[in-house]
Amino acid sequence: MDYARGAYALSASDLFHSYRSNDKKIDAINNINFNIKNNEFVSIIGPSGCGKSTLFRIVGGLLEPNKGEIRCFGLSTHEALQKNMIGFVFQNPVLLPWRNVKKNIALPLEIIGNNSAFDKRIEQLISLVGLQGFEGFIPKELSGGMRSRVSIARALVTNPKILLMDEAFGSLDELTRERMNIELGRIFEETQKSVLFITHSIAEAVFLSDRTIVLSKRPATIQEIIEIDLPRPRKIKLKTEKRYIDLTQHLRDRFIPEAEL
Ligand SMILES: Nc1ncnc2c1ncn2[C@@H]1O[C@H](COP(=O)(O)OP(=O)(O)OP(=O)(O)O)[C@@H](O)[C@H]1O
Ligand SMILES: [Mg+2]
Repeated sequence: MDYARGAYALSASDLFHSYRSNDKKIDAINNINFNIKNNEFVSIIGPSGCGKSTLFRIVGGLLEPNKGEIRCFGLSTHEALQKNMIGFVFQNPVLLPWRNVKKNIALPLEIIGNNSAFDKRIEQLISLVGLQGFEGFIPKELSGGMRSRVSIARALVTNPKILLMDEAFGSLDELTRERMNIELGRIFEETQKSVLFITHSIAEAVFLSDRTIVLSKRPATIQEIIEIDLPRPRKIKLKTEKRYIDLTQHLRDRFIPEAEL
């Protein structure tokens, strides 16, 4: 399909950003161009410190790039944020410790002053992320995986079209992380969002994505964009299939060339 630019959920053109600290110039990202279609799951993978979070902050309108621009369904990020079109999930769930699950999820609605159909929406989200029975618990009474679920529900509460996730499961142990991957895959398939998902995990990128963008070392440039042509819905047994294993191997080779082993 030939897309007009405004039809893309996200369109990044010619992004460049450089920090200046202690009189030193640190180029973080350079010459970044990509498009994400509506209802597409795209992950970004790259070495530690290469500039992923910088790119994330620029895409989410939290940082102004030195050069280039981002459009969200044809709008500037500023306009998209004003229309609550973007939801964020960070590595640290940043929940308010004195608010229970329900009230943490409700927070973005309270901020934008939307009191209509409040309870029903939150109830649906609590069920979507599998937290029924824990509505009244405060964050310290929850496991790491449960806190992650709360932050995903909170990101979805304003019904954004785009979900931006930066190392969202980076602080979880491996078993919980795998479980959250399965849950996020299901949530993606049920809610039809466009997702930009930043990760260090090859397994996570392949399991969840429609495409994976591979970044170089800092300053991050796009090395390759890989189609993850695995069928959906994705179940855990996919991880034993040849195509999944080949794709993870291909990505691993991008980061650790055979000659270095
Ligand atoms: N606010 C800032 N001021 C100055 N330099 C910064 C700032 N934020 C990031 N940097 C620098 O930009 C580079 C890229 O950082 P960034 O956080 O984007 O990397 P990353 O790929 O997200 O790393 P990680 O994988 O460890 O999360 C690093 O060299 C970092 O020191
Ligand atoms: Mg980062």
